Amino acid sequence: MIDNRRYEYLHAMGIPVWQQRDRQVESVSLQAFTPLEKTIPLSSGAMTDSDFGLLDWPALEQRVAQCQLCGLAQTRTQSVFGVGDRQAELFIIGEAPGVDDDQQGEPFVGLTGQLLNAMLQAIGLQRRQVYITNSLKCLPPRQHVPSAEEARQCQGYLSRQIALVQPKLILVLGQHAVHHVLHIDTPLAALRGQRLTEPQSGIPLLVTYHPDYLLKSPAEKAAVWVDLLVAKKMLQAKAGV
Ligand code: URA
Repeated sequence: MIDNRRYEYLHAMGIPVWQQRDRQVESVSLQAFTPLEKTIPLSSGAMTDSDFGLLDWPALEQRVAQCQLCGLAQTRTQSVFGVGDRQAELFIIGEAPGVDDDQQGEPFVGLTGQLLNAMLQAIGLQRRQVYITNSLKCLPPRQHVPSAEEARQCQGYLSRQIALVQPKLILVLGQHAVHHVLHIDTPLAALRGQRLTEPQSGIPLLVTYHPDYLLKSPAEKAAVWVDLLVAKKMLQAKAGV
């Protein structure tokens, strides 16, 4: 049975039949997922990030704020660095800032962000307890799907953020983000449920649907709930719980 607090969180995510679904997902075993050894190799096109490898937080933040490495710098209001606990166990990677994020300089502040917060609360985490950033640090113009080259220019920033935080687990939201991070074009549905690793750091990585997608396809919230429970189990296992 789920307690009242958990019910409130799940309700905030918009899933109506929680008790039934909870029983179903409690039986999810980590063993059912692809072993960690089955990781996706680093593609030869990946950046080495040597340019960013020694930067501390203030220097890295300043580089991102002043970045002119691609054309997105011309259309953004400001770059959006990241937010949260810089010693977090869970590191979340979204795709790119939205309009609200671009205005406020913080990732996931709009409606999508509210759903992300609810997703985190559902596994007992507050937004401030995780680290949240994007594979791209600048808002892409309307109708513009960021290119692999634009993502590649941003990759050193992300790698350095991961190296500084040293999380126990990385959770990637959405197909574009996972393609940028892993340098592949495998459909997201095929990557869900696999225990992957982030190529540069070797840190375990899970993939789930983007909250934006969930706003349009609420039926997939059940799948995300399963992914979140796996993430929770992996975090607990790493913490020796
Ligand atoms: N806001 C973000 O910061 N990232 C996304 O992927 C979507 C909205």
